[in-house]
Amino acid sequence: MNRNTWIRQLHRWLSIAFTLAVIANIAAMGMDEPVVWIGLLALVPLIPLLATGLYLFILPHAAKRRDVAG
Ligand code: HEM
Repeated sequence: MNRNTWIRQLHRWLSIAFTLAVIANIAAMGMDEPVVWIGLLALVPLIPLLATGLYLFILPHAAKRRDVAG
């Protein structure tokens, strides 16, 4: 599997983890005493999501740049 493919796969799986964390957050809102760590839970997948997402965003631009140069 080349690097672009596994970064795309990673982004896809992180998006599922992020979605679950958001659902946990919504569920926690209904609790009498909301727990702080559930609030931070979504940040764990969101940070690598941003990094892998920006990488995927740059890919076509980087490819175009190489075309022009080459
Ligand atoms: C945090 C900032 C994020 C950035 C910068 C970002 C950026 C991107 C980019 C550039 C792509 C590739 C689009 C293409 O095919 O041309 C992509 C795909 C995707 N993104 Fe994100 N994304 C972010 C967050 C998220 C979040 C929060 C979710 C969902 C919870 C998500 C779910 C997905 C999915 C499912 C794909 C398709 C992946 C595949 O090919 O299977 N992303 N994202």
